[in-house]
Amino acid sequence: MQEQYHIPVLLDEVIEGLHIQPDGIYVDCTFGGGGHSRAILEKLGPKGKLVGFDQDDDARKNLPDDPRILFVPQNFRHVQRFLRLNNITAINGLLADLGVSSHQFDEAGRGFSTRYNADLDMRMDRRQTLTAFDVVNTYTEQRLHKLFEEYGEVTNAKTLARTIVQVRSTSSLKTIDGFKNALREIVKGNPNKYFAQVFQALRIEVNDELGALKELLKQVPGLLLPGGRAAIITFHSLEDRLVKNFFRRGSFDEPDENPYTNTTTVNELKVITKKPITAGDKELKQNPRSRSAKLRVVEKIMMV
Ligand SMILES: C[S@@+](CC[C@H](N)C(=O)[O-])C[C@H]1O[C@@H](n2cnc3c(N)ncnc32)[C@H](O)[C@@H]1O
Repeated sequence: MQEQYHIPVLLDEVIEGLHIQPDGIYVDCTFGGGGHSRAILEKLGPKGKLVGFDQDDDARKNLPDDPRILFVPQNFRHVQRFLRLNNITAINGLLADLGVSSHQFDEAGRGFSTRYNADLDMRMDRRQTLTAFDVVNTYTEQRLHKLFEEYGEVTNAKTLARTIVQVRSTSSLKTIDGFKNALREIVKGNPNKYFAQVFQALRIEVNDELGALKELLKQVPGLLLPGGRAAIITFHSLEDRLVKNFFRRGSFDEPDENPYTNTTTVNELKVITKKPITAGDKELKQNPRSRSAKLRVVEKIMMV
């Protein structure tokens, strides 16, 4: 049976949120299996256009044979630059469905899943040099501690960092099985859950996921036409907080309690989803991955 590349989450909600204009220009920042892109194309007329970004070249094989779509195999952190290269300076809508695809996760050799043995890799973009191996074998103890704590909320992040540094002084941590075995003694609670958190932290670091998201968000107001919309789906609280704050205030900072130090940023975005949209019962039953998905939508304010 052919592998299913990825099941799109919150599909109807995204299409509804984007308010698609049939002649508009849309950007799918995370093309993946192309599920969202195909639904956008269905709403576009013959003059509409869709640009699909994906930093993983594997996504290219899912491209529909459709003259209205252009594929850009790049990181969405450079979205504005690559759109300009294609003579696009303003768009009617943008989607980002963050994280990894099921395909990336299920491909043993990519090193994303704790279920398989493979080299510690975890790169979405295989042109990049930094891998999970480099993070685990070269980062300082302090830096490892911080990333496991912040990106994985690993309860014993300090012990974990210390153990990694001790083990690697005598042998290099090359494979997933080798890595998991070396840490067997310090696992807290359910090992599957523990390693899922550890792997999440490594993946976020290797792919600079939060850095790329921030770069993308900063470009959204300048790219959208007045009335244009952006929809972002996140899968963990670190991402969702960035999206929520940026959509509400045009900045990544948490609201400041002190009125004297509070700076006001001009926000050209209007929040459409006061609360994030989450999957309904039917989708939750059909696709467990939708469990942690949160969709937020904004609209660029019309000029007065
Ligand atoms: C959750 S999947 C998207 C699935 C897609 N919406 C669908 O319906 O099949 C995320 C995809 O975005 C890509 N991706 C993640 N971060 C990216 C980034 N910073 N730049 C470009 N592509 C990225 C991944 O390689 C992956 O293929």
